[in-house]
Amino acid sequence: MSAVRTPVLAGNWKLFKTGSEGAEFVAALGRRLGRIQGVDVVVAPSFTALYQVAQVAVEHGIGVASQDVYWEEQGAFTGEVAPRMIKDTGAGWVIIGHSERRQFFGETNDGVARKVRAVLHAKLRPILCVGELEEQRVAGETEQVLKTQVEAGLSMVEATNMSSLALAYEPVWAIGTGRTATPQQAQEACAFIRELVVEKLGTNAAATVRILYGGSVKPDNAAELMSQDDIDGGLVGGASLEVESFAGIIEQSRATRT
Ligand code: PGA
Repeated sequence: MSAVRTPVLAGNWKLFKTGSEGAEFVAALGRRLGRIQGVDVVVAPSFTALYQVAQVAVEHGIGVASQDVYWEEQGAFTGEVAPRMIKDTGAGWVIIGHSERRQFFGETNDGVARKVRAVLHAKLRPILCVGELEEQRVAGETEQVLKTQVEAGLSMVEATNMSSLALAYEPVWAIGTGRTATPQQAQEACAFIRELVVEKLGTNAAATVRILYGGSVKPDNAAELMSQDDIDGGLVGGASLEVESFAGIIEQSRATRT
């Protein structure tokens, strides 16, 4: 993990916590960690819980993310949520292109690109997720898949936006499976992604952007993953649902910087 990039530890709560459960969680996490410094801690509840969680999170220096967004500012789009609505809840971040959205809800690279642009336009911070399926890794297609997803996701982004954007490398075969990528596999993929950013937006942009690893991150594997040069934090699913395990991951990650 680079000394110049503040790590991001983001908990993706998926379809689990209500507003009151989430608010209670961030209060407990805040008490457990004390004033958080040197790391951006973020939790991502469901849309309906954003406001309630953000109200408490702000008191503890914890950031809040939505798990998705729509790219239009307003209009006849029943069921959708616009960036400015997310901002109005007090949330500051938006997860875009998570593999579960891509796999189960028809998320496309084109949609991801529009969402990233809309989120940046609203002065929110995107966490852009990319990652290969198991069969793509086995077929030796990992780099091609990452290249397509990263280039599409960043197609409407300027170099100056990269300090407020995070990329998350999440191999789909490691999500929710307990099968973590090895630190070497994760580092290799994150270094490749950073190289793609160099080619597209230049070395300064690539040096600033935070690249997270996600996929079965746990307290006992966090330190080794987060100590890799090109890994600047984690996107954590299952292990972010309990205060103790999420706090453990945050502490382990913070310790790799000292
Ligand atoms: P996991 O999920 O930590 O449960 O593997 C990660 C994610 O989906 O972001």
